[in-house]
Amino acid sequence: MSKDYSVKSLEDVDLDAMIERQHQQQIVADEGETQPQQQPSNSSDKNAQGAAARDTTTKGKYSLNDFQILRTLGTGSFGRVHLARSVHNGRFYAMKTLKKERVVNMKQVEHTNDERRMLKLAHHPFIIRMWGTFQDCHNLFMIMDYIEGGELFSLLRKSQRFPTPVVKFYAAEVFLAIEYLHQLDIIYRDLKPENILLDKNGHIKLTDFGFAKEVTDVTYTLCGTPDYIAPEVVATKPYNKSVDWWSFGILIFEMLTGYTPFYDPTPMKTYENILNGTITYPDYLPPDILDLLQKLIVKDLTQRLGNLQGGSNDVKNHPWFKEVIWERLLSKDIETPYEPPITSGVGDTSQFDRYPEDKDLDYGISGVPDPYGQLFGDF
Ligand SMILES: Nc1ncnc2c1ncn2[C@@H]1O[C@H](COP(=O)(O)OP(=O)(O)O)[C@@H](O)[C@H]1O
Ligand SMILES: [Mg+2]
Repeated sequence: MSKDYSVKSLEDVDLDAMIERQHQQQIVADEGETQPQQQPSNSSDKNAQGAAARDTTTKGKYSLNDFQILRTLGTGSFGRVHLARSVHNGRFYAMKTLKKERVVNMKQVEHTNDERRMLKLAHHPFIIRMWGTFQDCHNLFMIMDYIEGGELFSLLRKSQRFPTPVVKFYAAEVFLAIEYLHQLDIIYRDLKPENILLDKNGHIKLTDFGFAKEVTDVTYTLCGTPDYIAPEVVATKPYNKSVDWWSFGILIFEMLTGYTPFYDPTPMKTYENILNGTITYPDYLPPDILDLLQKLIVKDLTQRLGNLQGGSNDVKNHPWFKEVIWERLLSKDIETPYEPPITSGVGDTSQFDRYPEDKDLDYGISGVPDPYGQLFGDF
């Protein structure tokens, strides 16, 4: 494998291209595509059964009539995320919509059902809260808290890179979210600044559970976003929770430098870089952070921090985090490094990019054939 593609330092990176980088698209290989043994379709994921056994149903269903749909906050692979306002209590919510046909065509039925189920399970200060779901003939809807401060992605691109204490603050909050998910045997699998939102005070909220999955041992599906995918996933080997610790390392690297270490405009080359594993760390990184990154962004799974005897505690107890008072952080009792400038109060959308609105939304249609409805029975 050629080394030509590996990014050596800030000077070698086409920073303009990097900064211009739009939200990176997730890659969505067919679910179970790389699974060695074919299993019956409705139990192709034996690990999901634990979650299925828990109560994840939404009681007291919402419907589209309960909301006024306002502007688009983000566009994803399957539909849009809108700001929406409850016609009952006037509160603002984020409404994620997914087109059933697109979900089916891209073979993401299981992931989408998992997204709903995992979000319903997760209750944590740094994880988005989902209140309910419903469907019409064409679309699936998920109602979540609206997080006004926008994406960490936007703040990072504006700032180019964050000072070390700022990186440490965001990294520590992200750590607590990932540690919590892992305790529930949930792998997140899509850690990146686009999926980390900032609330009005500047605390993080992890959103987008599109690839989250309950896994007690190993899984196989190739999914994620190229720059952040662990080498064992690229190599379609069985993998476990430690893929999130790899991505955590990439995220910290990106916050410190403004670029991801294996970046290339062509995803295939990004994958080559990941498998190649050569990273040149910029000189300005302090030794303790360098040590942490060199222990997280490690190809050898028997060496990767988070995957060793001490589990996530090894990450938490790394010297770089030594001054973090975890209990206070969890109770949001630590001052945030940045407060999003939200001037018009709740419902302010100034921190979100503008997207062209779709005048022909096909929401709320009923009474037409719905060939996919039964695939999404829990919605
Ligand atoms: N609860 C939320 N509050 C505010 N914005 C949100 C919320 N959830 C998602 N978004 C915005 O919508 C974008 C796309 O949502 P996401 O769930 O990440 O969809 P996809 O799976 O298509 O990436 C996010 O990157 C974010 O900008
Ligand atoms: Mg996303």
